Amino acid sequence: MKIILELKQTADGSYTLYNSELNEHYHSIHGANTESLHVFIQNGLAYLLPKMTSNQMNILEVGFGTGLNCFLTINYFIENKFKIKVYYHALEPYPVDKKLINKLSNGFQHKLYSEIHHLKWNVDQTINDGIVIHKSSEMVQHLKLEKKYDLVFFDAFGPRVEDKLWDISVLKLIFNLMNSNGIFVTYCAKGQVRRDLEQIGFKVERLPGPPGKREMLRATKTNNGTQKLEADLKE
Ligand SMILES: C[S@@+](CC[C@H](N)C(=O)[O-])C[C@H]1O[C@@H](n2cnc3c(N)ncnc32)[C@H](O)[C@@H]1O
Repeated sequence: MKIILELKQTADGSYTLYNSELNEHYHSIHGANTESLHVFIQNGLAYLLPKMTSNQMNILEVGFGTGLNCFLTINYFIENKFKIKVYYHALEPYPVDKKLINKLSNGFQHKLYSEIHHLKWNVDQTINDGIVIHKSSEMVQHLKLEKKYDLVFFDAFGPRVEDKLWDISVLKLIFNLMNSNGIFVTYCAKGQVRRDLEQIGFKVERLPGPPGKREMLRATKTNNGTQKLEADLKE
């Protein structure tokens, strides 16, 4: 299938891509940057950082797309001079082509953004002291238990167009790949997704969403949740 993508400017001036096959944008048209900062940085990364008890944070991103979340995350660590080590594992089976990335890069005017896009795929790449990025062409459904993650950015296209990625089996797979007290954040607030996360054993919070969205979800893998899943598996 040929994927047709167009560059679009969003309400806060930042850019996103529009996939005309799926009739879906990569970010909110009410502000790509604003959405990523709100959902993934403020309510994910900045919330978890002070609670970390280890000096290594493993982050999984489902849907690397334009690399915006990855850029904002790494930039956050660098700007704030955090001493913590970072492993950022970004999944993207359909990488955006170089021409579009160059256009996005021009809009960004940030060296780090183009550095991230120049990194090789499917290998660990050190971008800064203690910060490793692994851009992977794996699909989330096929992820193997090689690492345990502290923070998950679930940024797949919405359930309307990619319902199989929001299936409880995929969410359960992710739960199993997370460390205790790990955080899962998503822009999606669909009732079925929330109920599935709760059923798996996450403690789920409905938080105010970014502009244009009433709510978003943050789910924590508590110790109780782990015990619940283990009991379910024994049944
Ligand atoms: C909403 S966009 C992600 C936006 C991205 N986080 C950004 O900052 O630009 C969803 C992404 O999920 C990717 N995707 C599609 N199927 C996938 C799969 N099975 N596993 C992981 N990612 C997938 C799409 O190619 C697309 O880039």
